[in-house]
Amino acid sequence: MNKILIIFGTRPEAIKMAPIVLGFKNDPAFDVKVCVTAQHREMLDQVLEFFNIEPEFDLDIMQTSQSLHSLTARLLEGVKVVLDEYQPDYVFVHGDTTTSMAASLAAFYSSIKICHIEAGLRTYNIYSPFPEEINRRVTGLLANYHFAPTSTAEKYLVREGVNPSNIIITGNTVIDALLSSVERIKNGYSNEEILSLEEMIVVGKKIILVTGHRRENHGEGFRNICDALSSLAERDDVQIIYPVHLNPKVKDVVYERLSNRENIKLIEPLSYASFIWLMNESYLILTDSGGVQEEAPSLGKPVLVMRDTTERPEAVEAGTVLLVGTNMDEILSKCNKLLSDEKFYGSMSQLNNPYGDGHATERVIHFMKNNMHLDKTPNNLVGKSK
Ligand code: UD1
Ligand code: UDP
Repeated sequence: MNKILIIFGTRPEAIKMAPIVLGFKNDPAFDVKVCVTAQHREMLDQVLEFFNIEPEFDLDIMQTSQSLHSLTARLLEGVKVVLDEYQPDYVFVHGDTTTSMAASLAAFYSSIKICHIEAGLRTYNIYSPFPEEINRRVTGLLANYHFAPTSTAEKYLVREGVNPSNIIITGNTVIDALLSSVERIKNGYSNEEILSLEEMIVVGKKIILVTGHRRENHGEGFRNICDALSSLAERDDVQIIYPVHLNPKVKDVVYERLSNRENIKLIEPLSYASFIWLMNESYLILTDSGGVQEEAPSLGKPVLVMRDTTERPEAVEAGTVLLVGTNMDEILSKCNKLLSDEKFYGSMSQLNNPYGDGHATERVIHFMKNNMHLDKTPNNLVGKSK
């Protein structure tokens, strides 16, 4: 039986890999194990709990204020031990984190085939997102199979010389996770956090939901974002709710500048289900997150992205996402426009998601079932990228 090892370490990877884990584990054709690097800890664990995933391997790697260098070194060493023990035929990684890049490199050094979920996103600017653009390109260089969420991602991979028969357009698994979770919430799922959010929300005010963590925004970018939020909070028709990322480089600035402000609630990162619930209650979303940009169009919520570049141009083209950077005036002017201009708000809040239809996982599993035998034939070229 083919042995598959699914490796991830951060909150967004866990959310986007959860449907893949559950799909493979439900299929008797595969022997599947999960390795969490725990590049994140609390923010990862809440996702594992919600999806009821119990990893067979947990590297428990996170350290407070970890540097990219020591993180990468510990990941390479840690993943090697798991590869030696389980000896998988295939390693699955996701997206653009340092966990994905280092796990791919470790698998490559061990001559194990690599399957890359959410492959092919690009800005072609190595400093934005940093270090994710390079993490994703390195992973793509090492991968044997590239599961691209959109035709734009496929186009980039082909242009870079990847064999088209090794690229599979699947849609993004973030939509698989979202739709199944929305359904669970509709069917009565609740938790303490949702109950306390219900109490926190001020009836009659428009909720502006904020998240942010990007390394290229640390420092000046976050100071500008805080100043914009501070100014926005002077409006008495809004309530800003901001689940603050646990990275001290984010948390320290945000709490220092925005604590005890009228109309601003700073809270701990929410569990995934609570966050979806709150997105649904929001009027608009202000974020630099990749995953949130992909989720919001399914809920019909306008998103202002506090970045200058995006590797996710599809929703920008569809008109539901707008790049505003970290310039205070630009953030304020677009928020104010969305709050006062109904036509503008209407144009950005259509229910239309270019990132997927909720069936990405099925496409991944279908491809693996139908193509893995080719990897066993001698001198095959199928497993090679180029
Ligand atoms: C990481 C990823 C980024 C991804 C983001 C999602 C890299 C280099 N960065 O960025 O691509 O978009 O996750 O959120 O792979 N921390 C905690 N508890 C947690 C999580 C983080 O305390 O559960 C704190 C720790 O002090 C940790 C720090 O946050 O050292 C930074 O975590 P790290 O994973 O290095 O970077 P992120 O900014 O979270
Ligand atoms: N999310 C969450 N709790 C929060 C904020 C976000 O569970 O308090 C989820 C959100 O639904 C999305 C993912 O985390 O699926 C995005 O993660 P993040 O912004 O940390 O990373 P990125 O997507 O930018 O890599």
